[in-house]
Amino acid sequence: MSAPYVAPLAQPITLKLSGKVIPNRLYRTPLSEYASTYDDKNIEECGKPLPRYAALYQDLADGGAGLICTGNIPIHRDNLENYNNAVLDINNPWDAVAAFRPAVQAAKSRGALFLPQLQFPGRQVPKFLNAHPKSASDVQLRPCLDKTYGKPSPLTRDEIQDLVRRYVWAASVLAEAGADGIILHASHGYIMNQFLSPLTNKRTDEYGGSLENRARFILDIVRAIQAKLPADRFVIAAKLNCHDFIEGGTSFAEQCVVIKWLEEAGIDFFDISGGTYESPAWRGNIMTELSQHPSQRLRGSYFIEWAQEMKKVLSRAVIGTTGGWRDSYRMSEAVERGDIDMCGLGRPLREDPDFVHKALRGETRISSNL
Ligand SMILES: Cc1cc2nc3c(=O)[nH]c(=O)nc-3n(C[C@H](O)[C@H](O)[C@H](O)COP(=O)(O)O)c2cc1C
Repeated sequence: MSAPYVAPLAQPITLKLSGKVIPNRLYRTPLSEYASTYDDKNIEECGKPLPRYAALYQDLADGGAGLICTGNIPIHRDNLENYNNAVLDINNPWDAVAAFRPAVQAAKSRGALFLPQLQFPGRQVPKFLNAHPKSASDVQLRPCLDKTYGKPSPLTRDEIQDLVRRYVWAASVLAEAGADGIILHASHGYIMNQFLSPLTNKRTDEYGGSLENRARFILDIVRAIQAKLPADRFVIAAKLNCHDFIEGGTSFAEQCVVIKWLEEAGIDFFDISGGTYESPAWRGNIMTELSQHPSQRLRGSYFIEWAQEMKKVLSRAVIGTTGGWRDSYRMSEAVERGDIDMCGLGRPLREDPDFVHKALRGETRISSNL
């Protein structure tokens, strides 16, 4: 039973294109599990979910989140984002449907929707893991987050087509394993963000230059997935930056245009975040600018004031924002006022898989910045 003042968090909400119902307003945002195989001598064998991967999703399901996303799943085994995360590569010899099915069944066992996150890191991969990354263009990431990064080479048109094919294949595997859909990692400076950002996209072909061209990469992928997996059955969601919080990166004004294009293309759920490796706003606490920001101090969320403006641009899709939420009352207030539809939780659920139940009972009243 929810305490009266957090009752708005317990309301179900329907994803309009698929008709799928999310039983409450709290979701587990994508967060790396580090619970899959890794063997640097045998790249084919990397990324098989271990038993504790499914166990983690059982814990999260038992914890009551209405929607559960996985951590990022790279779609190219030569372009991992980190060690020990799950991988879905079209060339891997193992049965990916069977490998992912236990986690899908676990995550959905209490009625939550389940959206695994698909990802390609582009230039944002430590040099020790990949010295020769691929990106929209050849703009190298300067040392940051205690790591150095290789100089990327621009993806050719054929390589872009190959990536589109890989996203579609990975989504099809997850559909067959029983997932409700997928969430594209289009934030935090990874490949989709690299195409969108004028700082990292210096291309002169149809994937660079105007905003329409910079958005082509992600839109091509959304449309290709939909062609194979119709929106009335399979959800396509996106984690998207409100902006990059870096001079010359994607701006809030442009992201408000992109989010509308994505909705029109069939995205049914958005998780709003912000920042890149150079400006890791999603961590909030390490960017004084954000931890001291009025929205965080007064409303408990790093990005609420941008997310609520993005919501006004949308006509159909469900929208949430992640980053900083800790306090039941503040989350409930944002949902009740209609500022956003849902609240995303990362670290709170990593520390305590039962956090959602506690929040729904009005018991999470911590207002400090973690
Ligand atoms: C250890 C760790 C791993 C993360 N992995 C991912 C990821 O795989 N995909 C993603 O979109 N965000 C990832 N994030 C960012 C979180 O999803 C989230 O945006 C961030 O932690 C802020 O939310 P919070 O304040 O609720 O933790 C990660 C964050 C942390 C701390």
